[in-house]
Amino acid sequence: MKKHQIEVLVVGAGGAGLMAALYASKTAKTAVISKLYPTRSHTGAAQGGVGAALGNIEEDHPDWHTFDTVKGSDYLGDQDAIEFMCQEAVPAVYELEHYGLPFSRTPDGKIDQRPFGGHTNNVTGKPVRRACYAADRTGHMILQTLYQQCLKNKVQFFDEFQMLDLIVVNNAAAGVVALELATSEIHVFHAKAVIFATGGHGRIWEITSNAYAYTGDGPAVALRRGLPLEDMEFFQFHPTGIYKLGILITEGVRGEGGVLINDKGERFMEKYAPRVKDLASRDVVSRAMLTEMKEGRGIKGQRYLYLDVRPEVVNRYAALDGRRKPDGSAYNVTAEEILSKLPDIVDFCRVYLGVDPVSEPMPVQPTAHYTMGGIPTNKYGQVVIDASNTVMPGFYAAGEVACVSVHGANRLGTNSLLDLIVFGKHAGLHAAQFAKGADFQPLPNDAADFTLQQLDALRSGSGSEKVADLSKEMKAVMFDGVGIFRTGDGMADALEKVRILRQRFKNVRVSDSGKVFNTEMLNAWELGNLLDLAEVVAACALNRTESRGAHAREDYPKRDDANWMKHTLSWRQGDGSVQLGYKSVVQTRFQPKERTY
Ligand code: FUM
Repeated sequence: MKKHQIEVLVVGAGGAGLMAALYASKTAKTAVISKLYPTRSHTGAAQGGVGAALGNIEEDHPDWHTFDTVKGSDYLGDQDAIEFMCQEAVPAVYELEHYGLPFSRTPDGKIDQRPFGGHTNNVTGKPVRRACYAADRTGHMILQTLYQQCLKNKVQFFDEFQMLDLIVVNNAAAGVVALELATSEIHVFHAKAVIFATGGHGRIWEITSNAYAYTGDGPAVALRRGLPLEDMEFFQFHPTGIYKLGILITEGVRGEGGVLINDKGERFMEKYAPRVKDLASRDVVSRAMLTEMKEGRGIKGQRYLYLDVRPEVVNRYAALDGRRKPDGSAYNVTAEEILSKLPDIVDFCRVYLGVDPVSEPMPVQPTAHYTMGGIPTNKYGQVVIDASNTVMPGFYAAGEVACVSVHGANRLGTNSLLDLIVFGKHAGLHAAQFAKGADFQPLPNDAADFTLQQLDALRSGSGSEKVADLSKEMKAVMFDGVGIFRTGDGMADALEKVRILRQRFKNVRVSDSGKVFNTEMLNAWELGNLLDLAEVVAACALNRTESRGAHAREDYPKRDDANWMKHTLSWRQGDGSVQLGYKSVVQTRFQPKERTY
């Protein structure tokens, strides 16, 4: 077993982790451990843009961004945190530009911006160009840029190290236990401050845009350490994943004028969101798509629809909508422009589907994309452990793993990249400041014991259950029972089945005894995390008897502010059951209204 001592330890090397490390490293000895090579982190999958009211193309204001985000969250987001994020967005994007991020440009050299779902001109209600983008590789460019800055700042990286446990001493974070994947050696990282930036858990569902690595490691470990999770019932389905594969087709396609079409050739979003149509918020668009398919208007009666960005189609609908180019001239998009603005999308479709988006429509279906829930934090990234927001000393979380809560019941596209640069920065700053004023907690001799027990149980189990079988069943159960539309019966059934799967998981045995990149062991441990979180998601969802944002119940179709304007907290009890509690929503300027788009 190897031991390391570090002032600020960041777990995860996506955008939030790198931003946190960059800021922490300005004043504290900082290291990052990551299960992946940093630039392979899932932030790279965020394509279409980062939201900031720069107003480079048309009038826009951080205040409008704030309101849109509150409304998009179906009023469950904490308004103080949302306002903070939207105000910080503008300098944050310029900071990335100054680090060298190659944003796409307007003809006069400014950062270019495109429309995205739910982002509007608050006077007209029409879509506003707020997403700052680097073609359809914005997340990828953020990763490259921040990784370079971290290297320049001498952040120490432990690549391909899997975090397995949080060390807690005197109710404070004192480090983590990790497995070096290349050797299976256990490492104990003793730290003054620990920042979890481990991402989401979309691999719970069958069709997902999420990377294989998105297995909820951070929240699962936090739960095991007795910490609560917040708002786990809210999980976002992105409207446009590649049919059957789930791979993301950016909302930027609709931002560039692409439209969703059903089997009758209708642009059906006109019915569901007459003002903004295809650029309504994601919960609204995904539900509309599912409704179209359920009512038999999926393409060829199947469970997919078309996303059409052929130039002639874009130009026709732009004319019908009265949409003009920023200089007031008529829309006349060419195939070359589509290719230059959406090169990866064009490639993905050609490679995975044999479909060329400039001459054919793309078959798409909603795909499990993003959790609004996570480890509760305040806006400085400090983890809070109860309804009174009591801070756990030395423990921080940022990015998708955290619930600040700026996304409430539904996140707007482009606000995830924004969330991770704003709150990654503040978590890093605060953690470094904390570390400067704190001593190391004494490191217990048995710090790695819990981890070793978990690994031993997987190695020495005598059962015959297979990780792949349990994983497949969990994904199907959650996709059917805790997906876009939900019912009490469906969720209760899913919860019961996930509980049985958790029991069966105890009979999993890892047969590979090798030490070099033992991915069988890793996948087994990750499945344990996913199952733990699937149970929490299903329990929280069954408990919330209303429809709000991404949580749409057919048996409770209305939002119920009188009873449910509150965050859910969930804990794992000693006997394995899930305990639920609540926390108030912070409302400052905006009173809840009915949402229309
Ligand atoms: O559609 C997209 O490009 C995804 C962005 C996001 O989830 O924010």
